[in-house]
Amino acid sequence: MTDAAAIFAHVKQSGAGAPLYLRLRKSIEDAVSRGALLPGDALPSERDIAASADISRVTVRKAIQDLVQHGVLVQRHGSGTFVAPRMERVEQSLSRLTSFTEDMARRGLDVRSVWLDRGVYAPSPEEMMALGLSAEAMVSRVSRLRIANDTPLAIERASISAGFLPDPNAIGSSLYAALEARGCKPVRAVQRISATNLGEADAELLEVTPGSAGLNIERISYLPSGKVVEFTRSVYRGDAYDFVAELRLGTGEGIAP
Ligand code: GLP
Repeated sequence: MTDAAAIFAHVKQSGAGAPLYLRLRKSIEDAVSRGALLPGDALPSERDIAASADISRVTVRKAIQDLVQHGVLVQRHGSGTFVAPRMERVEQSLSRLTSFTEDMARRGLDVRSVWLDRGVYAPSPEEMMALGLSAEAMVSRVSRLRIANDTPLAIERASISAGFLPDPNAIGSSLYAALEARGCKPVRAVQRISATNLGEADAELLEVTPGSAGLNIERISYLPSGKVVEFTRSVYRGDAYDFVAELRLGTGEGIAP
């Protein structure tokens, strides 16, 4: 019997009285907590689990769906069901203007991005407003899935006036490094954070269940001259981020736009 099959072999004898799918769910949870199944491990197919545990596939599916909902397992289209990666929450200060690359490097995490889009477009009305562009101006769009230590954390969709960044293909791993190289790194930003439930497409990219909690973050950042250089809309996984703000007894000033 394989190690994985051993996990499921005694489901029927365990937790007498409880519905079978709950007993299977508990066997899987126990295997994860004692390390018999590790983050990233693939689960056997529904059919194999059903055979090892001598229960129906419907019951297996129900237990798995329950564990996916609770973030213990993740499902990837076409490749199966896996033990969810262990998520350490990232704490990010709300008072320092930093880039994703800098934030993750400070924590010793490896960063990589998957490009979702990069190109030069005519601006949308929203981009024209945010970036202060005329209808004739062009905008560079840079959309990335941001990944730290192999865990997708955020989807970031940045718009930069093509005047500041004419060639989005020239960006390496960091947008802010590319802006700095062109002498237009932002020095100030206003960030707006709101709660969201992740839609199907974003949830799939972030490897969470559709409807999971997320954070919408909109950042407008400025050059020393006061010109807007960046308008970015991001969606962060709600289970991965804590935003921390230091509060001081204030003088009643609002946020300068
Ligand atoms: C953060 C901000 C984004 C910004 C990005 C730049 O994640 N939320 O508004 O565009 O950093 O990161 P990097 O320089 O790593 O591309």
